Order: sequence, then C-alpha cells, then structure tokens
Amino acid sequence: MTDAAPPQYKGPQRVFSGMQPTNGLHLGNYLGALQKFVRLQDQYECIYCIVDLHAITTGPDPKELANRSREVAAAYVAAGVDPKRSTIFIQSAVREHSELAWVFNCVARMGWLERMTQFKDKAGSHAERSSVGLFAYPVLQAADILLYKATHVPVGEDQKQHLELSRDIAAKFNKDYNAPNFFPLPEPLIQGPGARIMSLREGTKKMSKSDPSDMTRINMTDDADAILQKIKKATTDSLPVPESKEGLAGRAEVENLVGIFAAVTERTVEDILTEFGGKGFGVFKPALAEALAAKLSPIAAEMRRLNADPGALDAILKYGADKARAVAQPIMAEVRDVVGFWRAG
Ligand code: TRP
Repeated sequence: MTDAAPPQYKGPQRVFSGMQPTNGLHLGNYLGALQKFVRLQDQYECIYCIVDLHAITTGPDPKELANRSREVAAAYVAAGVDPKRSTIFIQSAVREHSELAWVFNCVARMGWLERMTQFKDKAGSHAERSSVGLFAYPVLQAADILLYKATHVPVGEDQKQHLELSRDIAAKFNKDYNAPNFFPLPEPLIQGPGARIMSLREGTKKMSKSDPSDMTRINMTDDADAILQKIKKATTDSLPVPESKEGLAGRAEVENLVGIFAAVTERTVEDILTEFGGKGFGVFKPALAEALAAKLSPIAAEMRRLNADPGALDAILKYGADKARAVAQPIMAEVRDVVGFWRAG
C-alpha cells in the first residue's frame, strides 16, 4: 500500500469520478454519488464520467448502451452537476482512456489484480472463463483517474480497493519511468452521511437495483405516493426513534432510515435524533417520505425533461467530451514521451 498523496505533487487539485451506465438509478446512487458530485463543485474542478467502456465487461445490449449512458448523464445534470462548471462526458468518446489503460496494463502486476475482491465476486467460480476485460477493469479505472491527473476521487466504500490499486499503479509508473511526481497518488473522498444506503427491508444488505423486490429501494423516478408507500412498509422495530446515536446500535434498519433522513436534508444524524427521539415511526416515517419526495421530485421531473430531448443532451455530452479531451490529450502526449513512443520529429 502507498502513502497519502505526497505534498511534492505540484499539480492542480482535481476531482474525477464515474458511474456505470445502468438503468434504474436509486436513492443509493443519488446520496452515495450524485449529491456528493454536486457539492464538490464548490470546492474543486470536477470531471464526471459515464463509464461505458467498463460497462461492456459485463456485456449489456448494444441497442441499449448509448441510451443508458444518456440517461445517467441526464441524472447528473438533473441532480445539479453543472455541465459548464464541471465536465460531464461519456468515457468511450475520449479514446485516450483506452490508450492509457494499455500502458497501465503493462505497469500493473497480475498478483495485484488477483487480489481484487470485486473481480473475485463477479467472476465467482468461473474466473477462467471471465473476460480479460473484467480482470483488467480496475486498471481502466486507474487510467480514467490518472488521465486527468485527478487528486481526489469520491467513491463508495466498495471502490476503496480499486482506488488503492490506482495509487499503486501511479507510484509504480512514476518509479519505473523515473518520473517522480508525474502522476499524483489519488485520494478517496468517502466521508459524509449517506456513504452506504441499505435496503429498506434488510438493514445489512445494500440498496440495489438488482434486488427482485422494488419495495427494498427508492428509485430516483418514484413519485411522492410510491415513496410514502415504500417508507411506510420499511422494516423497523417496536421501539421509538432513539434519542442519541448509541440507541442506533443493533438497529440496522432504523440506523439506515435516520441516515437517509440526515443525508437527504443535509442535516446531521444527531440533529434528526434530537427532533424525533422518543417519537414513534408513525411520526418519523411520513416526515422522512416528505423530505425524500421534496428532494427527488424536482430531479425526476428534470430527468424526464432531459430524456425527452436527446438532441440537447447530446449537445451537453459533446461539449463535455471536448472539455475532457482538452485536459486528457496533453497529459497523454506527456505519457507517450515518458514511455518513449515514437513521435514525428
Ligand atoms: N468502478 C466504479 C463503480 O463501479 C466506476 C468507475 C469507473 C469509477 N471509473 C472510475 C469511479 C473512476 C471513480 C473513478 O462504481
């Protein structure tokens, strides 16, 4: 493992993050990623990507891939990522991601990738029959980040190991090519409420679009009525809302609901417990549902508007790809020189 981003790195502070082009975005995606992306715009130069090259490691339908990418882009914009201030683009539109990934394939070691728990989970007992792309997935992720010399990466807990690998690749590249501080060692930004949003039915399972029951999740496009029904039916216990954080111990479902309330209203957990401590869920749940609907309804409306206008969305994405290339291409040109590739004299 590598140390924190060394102070010797003199380049600009820059945020990079990405999401797969999946359909069915839910509250976990919103609170765990999008809401944070929006907030980080006030502090950093931000580059946000829709990672369709990563998506083909699991073979989505070619007829649907581009539209899924557009839909996630619409969610970024609807949630409040500003395409002018930040950069929003589709990964495959910037060819340098693939080019740098190849260079990094020659830097990363087999043993490093073999330790990746996400690969082990996804490949299961069929590692031999997995695609090389699935194995190299985290190498491409490192290329995404380092193609922009990003210093900070907002990710969920489950991506921490991939980020450590990015740091290892950056450090080994810098060392092998005798280019000290060429790449920064990117740091994760994980803190804050809403880091892990759990199923509404089982507090130990992550909220997921692949759960067969729709009652386990709040979709970003659910209306106020659906939200209220799902929150009312969410698992709790017969005790009232606790008055302090200690009272959340051993009550995973309650902890999840309180965490969601705090994250969606951008208040602290303590603050929520001060207001609702001692009250029953008959009071807490409708208030939570109302806060969720107040946050999500305008975003869902904006997503619908954007999805109905693919031309406008494509214009945003072309503009974003141009901005991304303007950063990526000079860095890739530097990498080519460091590696020693031919360049016409
Ligand atoms: N692997 C990430 C995920 O599944 C998505 C991703 C791809 C990403 N490239 C990235 C996240 C670069 C952060 C930075 O969530």
